[in-house]
Amino acid sequence: IFDKQHFKYIILGGGVAAGYAAKEFTRQRLLPGELAIISKEAVAPYERPVLTKSYLFPNEPARLPSFHVCVGSGEEILLPEWYKEKGIELIIGTEIVKADLASKMLISASGKIYTYQTLIIATGSKAVKLTDSGVQGADAKNIFYLREISDADMLVEAIRTKNKGKVVVIGGGNIGLEVAAAMRINKFDVSMVYREQWCMAGLFSPTIASFYEGYYANKGVKLIKDTVAVEFEADLNGQVKKVKLKNGKVLQADIVVVGIGARPLTELFEGQVEEEKGGIKIDGLFRTSVQDVYAVGDVATFPMKLYNDMRRVQHVDHARQSAEHAVKAIKAREDGKSIEEYQYFPFLYSSYFDLSWIFCGDNVGEPVVFVDAQYNTTRPSPTKPKFGTYWINNGKVVGAFLEGGTAEEIEGIAKIVSLQLEAQRDRLEIYGMLVAGLYG
Ligand code: FDA
Repeated sequence: IFDKQHFKYIILGGGVAAGYAAKEFTRQRLLPGELAIISKEAVAPYERPVLTKSYLFPNEPARLPSFHVCVGSGEEILLPEWYKEKGIELIIGTEIVKADLASKMLISASGKIYTYQTLIIATGSKAVKLTDSGVQGADAKNIFYLREISDADMLVEAIRTKNKGKVVVIGGGNIGLEVAAAMRINKFDVSMVYREQWCMAGLFSPTIASFYEGYYANKGVKLIKDTVAVEFEADLNGQVKKVKLKNGKVLQADIVVVGIGARPLTELFEGQVEEEKGGIKIDGLFRTSVQDVYAVGDVATFPMKLYNDMRRVQHVDHARQSAEHAVKAIKAREDGKSIEEYQYFPFLYSSYFDLSWIFCGDNVGEPVVFVDAQYNTTRPSPTKPKFGTYWINNGKVVGAFLEGGTAEEIEGIAKIVSLQLEAQRDRLEIYGMLVAGLYG
């Protein structure tokens, strides 16, 4: 006997994109029973970025239901009851282990079959693990990764039991920086280890990075650059105790948190759908190479019209926007209407300690640093964290970064970059902040 269920629409994955897509379905037109969200996670869609930030804080940590989607875009929080009211089936705690796109069928780990008319793939990414590359001892206890709320819960438990011990954070990207800050706020002794010469090397210029590294050092975080972890040693209970680095150093550790990147979850569809740049290839209306199958969020490689390029973006702003646009495209197609193709303008943000930055556009060309006009220096000062960087390419501003900006300045900077204003380096160096304010 087959346990089988059919839906007009299935969203596979119950993360950020799924939640924003569900909301958009209800804004468009949705009948009870038409839509199901199938998710491995045990909870309704939530704003994932919280997991490395306030979820880990010692005082008044963020907990569900306060950060279910769509709180991140300032809209109503979609509680589990909301899905029920709208007749959306929230099939949580359910992993899909096989997808057969030709026969429009998904099969769960417990053998249940789900069929659909239209599928939206929103499986997101998974953390790259040290065990993937065979690092010795990397399967010891208390080595954590952060992707899902269940991962964060295990780290929260370790924070409680290892109370103010030693933490080694591996990876100098955003996850590493955010977790290192959170662990320091929890009064742990924190070291960060990363392969690159400076933190957030994919985005930050050396000048931007040196500001944050100075700030972290002032907060007591030890930064160990230009090396990697090659071995972990555990005690008799299998709990991690030591981290050996390639440079010969050995660090004591009660907790290790690893943030060395994320890979899109495309395995289920391998050989069934066209892929590009590690993700599922879609067109400007989120259509994959398979009829009635769409992809959104982290997993999709889409035409980035602004840069005439195919890209994959692993940021929450894209997850939200792509999901909404895909649902609009699906609905328009059903109605025989046409809508504009997706025009994504990259916008990312993060916060550590009492700092917070935004970045928009593309970080190509020459970076030009500017600081708050009150401070007559071209180097950001660790005591007054307000500065930025414009990237100039072929005489035009193509990207911008801003730490500590006001809402108006952030808006101004985004405008300057989206318009690709022509600019001169020396002017921007002096008037960069002023210009941001003027455009805001
Ligand atoms: P997302 O990962 O949100 O959801 C995918 C869902 O699919 C998960 O629920 C997963 O369990 C489920 N799934 C996968 N395979 C499945 C299967 N076979 N069966 C059933 N379910 C399956 N971005 C940013 O701009 N600023 C920031 O500060 C941060 N901070 C941040 C912190 C942390 C800890 C993470 C992990 C990520 C961020 N991000 C971020 C990135 C951002 O959260 C990310 O881009 C979005 O969550 C992507 O949304 P998706 O819906 O595509 O995937």
